[in-house]
Amino acid sequence: MKTKVTINSVEHEIDTDPKRTLLESCLIAQIAAPYSCLEGVCSFCEAEVTEGDVRVRAGNETDTHPKTVRTCQTFPVSKTVKLKYLKNT
Ligand code: FES
Repeated sequence: MKTKVTINSVEHEIDTDPKRTLLESCLIAQIAAPYSCLEGVCSFCEAEVTEGDVRVRAGNETDTHPKTVRTCQTFPVSKTVKLKYLKNT
């Protein structure tokens, strides 16, 4: 699976796995995604899902449109996902 991730206006393409959170895949790919707690609390890792489907860990769902997720609690579902991080690093 592939995910396009935009951070600080720069787009990266990384490999993702439905068993790993999107943030974990970013960190494995060594791109500087913003984060702090890794537990769904701080919101530093929030990103907009601009394309594709994702699964959010129970209790961390949001009802925003466009969909905003905490990437430390979110897993890719579709073959391609596009994310745009809301905070700069
Ligand atoms: S790293 Fe804190 S909510 Fe994701």
